[in-house]
Amino acid sequence: DWTMAAYRAEAIEKIRAEVGKGKVICGLSGGVDSSVAAVLIHEAIGEHLTCVYVDHGLMRHGESEQVVSLFREHYNIPLVHVDASDLFLGKLAGVSDPEKKRKIIGGLFIDVFETEAKKIGGADFLAQGTLYPDVIESVSALGGPSVTIKSHHNVGGLPERMNMKLVEPLRELFKDEVRALGRELGLPESFIGRHPFPGPGLAIRIPGEITREKADTLRKADLIYIDEIKKAGLYDEIWQAFSVLLPVNTVGVMGDVRTYEAVLALRAVTSTDGMTADYYPFEHAFLGRVATRIINEVQGVNRVVYDVTSKPPGTIEWE
Ligand code: XMP
Repeated sequence: DWTMAAYRAEAIEKIRAEVGKGKVICGLSGGVDSSVAAVLIHEAIGEHLTCVYVDHGLMRHGESEQVVSLFREHYNIPLVHVDASDLFLGKLAGVSDPEKKRKIIGGLFIDVFETEAKKIGGADFLAQGTLYPDVIESVSALGGPSVTIKSHHNVGGLPERMNMKLVEPLRELFKDEVRALGRELGLPESFIGRHPFPGPGLAIRIPGEITREKADTLRKADLIYIDEIKKAGLYDEIWQAFSVLLPVNTVGVMGDVRTYEAVLALRAVTSTDGMTADYYPFEHAFLGRVATRIINEVQGVNRVVYDVTSKPPGTIEWE
């Protein structure tokens, strides 16, 4: 696609002009946006870029391995892998409010980036994969002018005290354009086609208090759900699918034993840019299969429900 080729060349020139000889740190989340931003910036400034992947203990199953192998092996782009799960889960302990969770996570990300920046002798810029819809939703969300529904994303959620300037080379693009740019940059299709994953990760898919045990339970259930979606050949038809571990226990029966365990909600939506979305009309047989597998295979979950809310009035994530 020649338009994307032209865009790529232009974007690279813009990054060079903006950054000069400065050093850039790019936070990777495992999502498409930050990956595309990183590869683009690497093309522009090479070794002046350091990628940092922060595992906050709230990533999906296998995410860390996939990101590390994509950058280190496929691209040979240096990548610092920080295991910060104790730090994040420690600071999140006992916190239930969604916006507080986002603020704590945003603040800790900056702390980690700044620590890593020091280790490389300082960085002038922090790169993020902010997209156009992130910019608009943050400025004026669906509720009307200047109403913030969620202190979304990268935009605006950063503390004032940050020393680094922001570089956001995808700020003008929509998701489908980012994917096209990713293809242009040679990212593997398996990466480009991945469902979006929010920066705060599983933190906003565990309403109420977060614990490591809940995150583990959610990861296991979500892996089964996504696996069944892939087996059914539906993954690419869906914008985003994920599970939410509810802070509600219900009574069940396994064999002849009473259980009292958590409810898991399944979510799947179609969308073109995440700003509006429709729930995905799975067949009942599919949902039944997923529910049976999750209840049989995941300890701590004894009931599964499916979310049939579209956006608006719902949002895609539950928090
Ligand atoms: P909502 O839930 O607002 O989500 O309908 C729209 C899209 O944004 C993602 N999302 C986030 N991404 N940080 C992010 O990086 C966040 O705090 C955040 N909240 C929602 C969500 O996954 C969906 O793709």
